[in-house]
Amino acid sequence: MNDLHSDERVFATPDGVRLARMDDVEDNKARGFVLQMRAGRFHGFVVRRGNRVHGYVDRCPHMGLPLAQKLDDYLVPGGAHIACSWHAALFRVEDGQCVGGPCNGQRLTSWPVHVDAGMIVTGLGDGAPG
Ligand code: FES
Repeated sequence: MNDLHSDERVFATPDGVRLARMDDVEDNKARGFVLQMRAGRFHGFVVRRGNRVHGYVDRCPHMGLPLAQKLDDYLVPGGAHIACSWHAALFRVEDGQCVGGPCNGQRLTSWPVHVDAGMIVTGLGDGAPG
């Protein structure tokens, strides 16, 4: 640990960070990202649906745990919902709303991401979601 970076957990990122090539995330799959910034460390994930992407902070609203216990394991088989691997809460991919499990009625914290020239980039870009 050096004093340039904080151990704090942060729940948002600056816009314009290039995360990965869209081609590196399979359709109906998810990929986790950790961004170390001066202010602290951000944990998030992106779900690909066709040529759209949906991003969320990697934190279950129920107990604040990271959703996946295995690398990139954020979805139920087939990819229909996001799932918390600890107590099986289910969330809609499109808006992060919990639709089953112990955090019913709550929702994941959105992490704005978009696709620009084949790259997944943080922020809303031209303002269009995903
Ligand atoms: S921490 Fe996710 S359902 Fe309990």
